[in-house]
Amino acid sequence: MSSNSKDKRKVLVTGGAGFIGSHLVMKLINEGFNVTILDNLSSGDKDNIPNKYVNFVNGDIRDIDLVNKLVKKSDLVFHLAEYIPQTRNYGAGHVIKYSFERPLLEFDIGCRGTLIVLDKCREHEKKFVYTSSAAVYGESRRAFLSEDSPTVPSSPYGASKLCAETYVKLYSQLYGMSSTILRLFNVYGPRQNKYIMYDVLRKIAKNPRKIELLGSGQEERDFIFVNDIVDAIFFAANNQKCNKEIINVGTGIATSTKELIGLIIEMLGISPDVTFAQTSWKGDVKKLVADIGKIRKMGFEPKYLLTDGLRELINWYKKN
Ligand SMILES: NC(=O)c1ccc[n+]([C@@H]2O[C@H](COP(=O)([O-])OP(=O)(O)OC[C@H]3O[C@@H](n4cnc5c(N)ncnc54)[C@H](O)[C@@H]3O)[C@@H](O)[C@H]2O)c1
Repeated sequence: MSSNSKDKRKVLVTGGAGFIGSHLVMKLINEGFNVTILDNLSSGDKDNIPNKYVNFVNGDIRDIDLVNKLVKKSDLVFHLAEYIPQTRNYGAGHVIKYSFERPLLEFDIGCRGTLIVLDKCREHEKKFVYTSSAAVYGESRRAFLSEDSPTVPSSPYGASKLCAETYVKLYSQLYGMSSTILRLFNVYGPRQNKYIMYDVLRKIAKNPRKIELLGSGQEERDFIFVNDIVDAIFFAANNQKCNKEIINVGTGIATSTKELIGLIIEMLGISPDVTFAQTSWKGDVKKLVADIGKIRKMGFEPKYLLTDGLRELINWYKKN
C-alpha cells in the first residue's frame, strides 16, 4: 500500500470516528491517502476527526446498498466498526459487560455487520483488514497467547468477534480474498473514554483518597498504546506477509491491575486507599497477554513503554 499525489489510494475506514479509528484515519491522512469514513456515531464522535481532510459518511455497516457503494469506490477497507455503547456506566470491562445485556445486537453488528462489509469486499475484490480482539481467546491457562492458542470466548462480544473471524478466514480460502485479521489486546490512549484506565482516572477525579475496583488486582493484561496499534494496522495492510494471516497485536508484557493502579497513582503523585471487591463481572478473565512472536518475526515492534503511553493518556484526560 503506497500513496503519491498522482495516484492517491482510496481507503474506507468503518468505525473511523471512534477511538482507534480516528487515530488510524489521522495516520492515513498523514501518509497521503484519500480517506472515507463510514460511522453511525453510536459511540464515535465527529470531533475526533479532521473534517476537511476526510469524506465522512454517517451510516450503518448493515446498510448493504451504502456499503456496496462505498466499498466499490475504495481500494482497501479497514473494518473497525463495533457497537461499544457511549456510556460511562460500565467502567472496566465495558464492552464485555454490555454484550451480556444485548447479545443479539452484538451479533448483529459484530458478526452480521462484518459479513456485509466482507462480502462487498469479496464482490469488488478489495483487501479487508479486520480488527478482532483478544476476547476470542477467553480464559486460558497459557501464560502468553499465541495465534494458535485455543479460542474459547467467555462473552457474547468474544463469540461475535470469533464468528466474524471465521467468515474472514473462510472467504480467504473460498474466494482467495486478500484479508488480515488483527487480534488487538488492551488498547489505550487519548480519546478513549471507557475501560479500566479511564475508569480509574474518573474515580480519582471524584475522590482522590479512595478507589474501589472490581476484581482481585491480580488480573493481568497486555496494554498497548494506540499509536502502536495504528502502526501495526498500517504495517499489516502494507505487508504481503500479513495477507490471509491472523496476527496478535500487543506488547507481550503482562501488567496486573494492581501494578497499573500503582503506576497511575505514582504518576499523579497521590496515595489513595485502593480496594478490590474480590469479585468481578461475568466474562472477566484472569489473564490476557499476547505472544507477539509472529508479528515481531514479520518485522513489527511496538515502541511505547506503558509509562510513556500513560503520561499521554493522563495529559489528555486532564485537558478534557
Ligand atoms: N479498544 C480496545 O482495547 C480494543 C481491543 C480489541 C479490539 N478492539 C476493536 O477495535 C475496534 C475499534 O474499537 P474502539 O475501541 O476504537 O471502539 P469505539 O467504540 O471507539 O469505535 C467504534 C466505532 O464504530 C462505530 N459504529 C458502531 N456501530 C456501528 C455501525 N453499526 N455502523 C457504523 N459504525 C458503527 C461507532 O460509532 C464508533 O465510532 C473494534 O472493532 C473493537 O472491537 C478494540
